[in-house]
Amino acid sequence: MSQAQISLGAFLMGSGHHLAAWRHPQAPSGALGLAHFRRLAQTAERGLFDAIFFADNLALLGSNELAAHTTHGEVLDPLMLLATLASSTERIGLISTVSTSYNDPYLLARRFASLDHLSGGRAGWNLVTSATDQEAQNFGLDQHFEHADRYSRAEEFIDVARGLWDSFADDAFLRDKVSGRYFDPQQLRTLEHRGEHYRVRGPLNQPRSPQGHPVLVQAGSSEPGKVLAARTAEVVFTAQQTLEGAREFYVDLKGRLAEHGREPDELKIMPGISPVLGRTQDEAEDLYAQLQELIEPQLGLALLSGMAGGLDLSRYPLDGPLPELPPSNAMKSRQALFIDLARRENLTLRQLYLRVAGARGHCTLVGGPKQIADHLEAWFSAGAADGFNIMPPLLPSGLDSFVELVVPELQKRGLYRREYRGSTLRDHLGLRRPERR
Ligand SMILES: Cc1cc2nc3c(=O)[nH]c(=O)nc-3n(C[C@H](O)[C@H](O)[C@H](O)COP(=O)(O)O)c2cc1C
Repeated sequence: MSQAQISLGAFLMGSGHHLAAWRHPQAPSGALGLAHFRRLAQTAERGLFDAIFFADNLALLGSNELAAHTTHGEVLDPLMLLATLASSTERIGLISTVSTSYNDPYLLARRFASLDHLSGGRAGWNLVTSATDQEAQNFGLDQHFEHADRYSRAEEFIDVARGLWDSFADDAFLRDKVSGRYFDPQQLRTLEHRGEHYRVRGPLNQPRSPQGHPVLVQAGSSEPGKVLAARTAEVVFTAQQTLEGAREFYVDLKGRLAEHGREPDELKIMPGISPVLGRTQDEAEDLYAQLQELIEPQLGLALLSGMAGGLDLSRYPLDGPLPELPPSNAMKSRQALFIDLARRENLTLRQLYLRVAGARGHCTLVGGPKQIADHLEAWFSAGAADGFNIMPPLLPSGLDSFVELVVPELQKRGLYRREYRGSTLRDHLGLRRPERR
């Protein structure tokens, strides 16, 4: 039997994940347009990544004054971007974040199926429920849906989307010029969905897509997030700081699959890793110091305040502890991660924002290729991860160096592919194509 292999996603974000990346001399100086993203996608494909992945928010988050010091005002629609990148790549998967809270299931099911058709079976959907009132206010609401409510909408949304993707049988399309039949109506099903949140007649006006369904990705780690993931997700992205925490999450989530009649390998768990990489440890530490020095305290604090649930932390002493945080309606699991990290390591507010400004709570590694590969191998072989979502702190250089230095190291250890074997995202991840229900 061949050795198990690590899956890798390239989580791409403007000029990099580090809050201050855009100010680093190696960051691009101009607009973050198609040429920049095409180069990133092609580099990731050269590195044989399973997929590239884009996050998304539906608002300019934070105050205008603070946002003005970040790249948050330059975010392209990820689904459109990926549809464009499909034509300049051939094998790599294309995963877009899209919110279930502020979208319509018919339109979205159709868009993802379209991406799957246009890319030859490479589409993936990172389903999020959105987290902020600022997003709600762009869609006619004052406040975001309550946590439980938005997960209840998400549960129904995904069922509608899956039903729509199964509108046609795989061989429904005859395109028979002689008989005049384009498709066989016996092979078509109208959904007729009437639920608590959505009413959708269907069917979808598209053949079943190459992957049957786009790959379903989920990234919420709260209790309702895990319930949704156990039932529906095929990939889970998660922020984990420690091997023990990652392993606990992994065992918990995999253990929930059986009650849905699912096998453990039908869901791949991929924690985020932000590698601050150099040819040597010294070079990596030097780069990390350069990036960290560029963080303005008020920006670091604002990022922390926003992600930790919205309490304005600038009112507390920078060199004092993290205060008690009120329960969050936003990212519950991320708030828990910040509290846990601050208490475990006894961090001041300043130390905490410095720890999380690089990768928003994901694990940051500073080292040479061997150190980074050692970490990935340790988590993988301890049963804490099936793969990793790689979050370069600085782009494009951080992805270039990962492909040049870490990928060969993983290959040498027999942990990573030397060529793509299949053509779809499901092939890369080792996921089966869903039967039509
Ligand atoms: C790798 C990763 C990427 C994420 N990307 C997004 C995103 O693009 N947009 C978003 O609203 N939430 C994003 N999230 C947040 C989650 O989807 C989720 O909304 C958040 O963790 C809160 O959910 P919870 O309360 O279930 O933990 C991401 C989370 C992770 C781990």
